[in-house]
Amino acid sequence: MFGPVLKGEGVTLRPPDETDPERFVVWLADTEVTRYLLRPFAVAIEQEREWFKSTGESKTTVYWIVEAEGRAIGSTGIHDIDWLNANATTGTVIGDRSAWGKGYGSKTMRLRTAYAFEQLNLHKLSSSAFMENEHSKRALQKAGYRETGVEREHLWRDGRWHDHWRCEILRSDWQRSAGRVP
Ligand SMILES: CC(C)(COP(=O)(O)OP(=O)(O)OC[C@H]1O[C@@H](n2cnc3c(N)ncnc32)[C@H](O)[C@@H]1OP(=O)(O)O)[C@@H](O)C(=O)NCCC(=O)NCCS
Repeated sequence: MFGPVLKGEGVTLRPPDETDPERFVVWLADTEVTRYLLRPFAVAIEQEREWFKSTGESKTTVYWIVEAEGRAIGSTGIHDIDWLNANATTGTVIGDRSAWGKGYGSKTMRLRTAYAFEQLNLHKLSSSAFMENEHSKRALQKAGYRETGVEREHLWRDGRWHDHWRCEILRSDWQRSAGRVP
């Protein structure tokens, strides 16, 4: 599924359109962007069009394009939704490197979190990062996620093993941080 338009301060989430797959062909060929992604592979345009189509049809994913400064800068999603247990995993890629470090990642995560709890009635969101990905860990923590543990030597990259940092946000954490609990 694709998510609806969500407008935040300086950042908008919107459903993908036919111009988006080609952006990802460029971004996912940039090793600076994919350095800490779990699947660090480039894609061909046909594969990417097919990926968008199957993502739109998925019943366990809600996916958006992230816009800031008047253009598409990346994407975010709620994945692997377990509708019975009301939990899911989340991920974000800001593919336009000139948009890094301007607060768009953490604002995107906050918009997505509010949607997950208020509109989808989920209970918990989990995420993770390479232990060295301080930028991603910081953005997740700013958005309210808390560390839940570290899987040691869990990911292989650049000729060595890396620890895998895991985090989550419960609906109650979000309600407290968003001032929704009296
Ligand atoms: C990780 C990512 C989503 C963060 O988005 P962003 O918009 O660049 O992040 P923000 O601007 O919201 O920054 C969040 C925090 O990280 C800090 N930060 C920025 N660059 C940093 C760096 N190189 N190292 C450590 N912290 C950094 C920011 O200062 C900010 O913290 P602060 O407000 O306390 O100063 C984005 O950079 C990205 O998509 N990178 C490539 C793909 C990736 O790694 N995705 C995550 C996979 S788990």
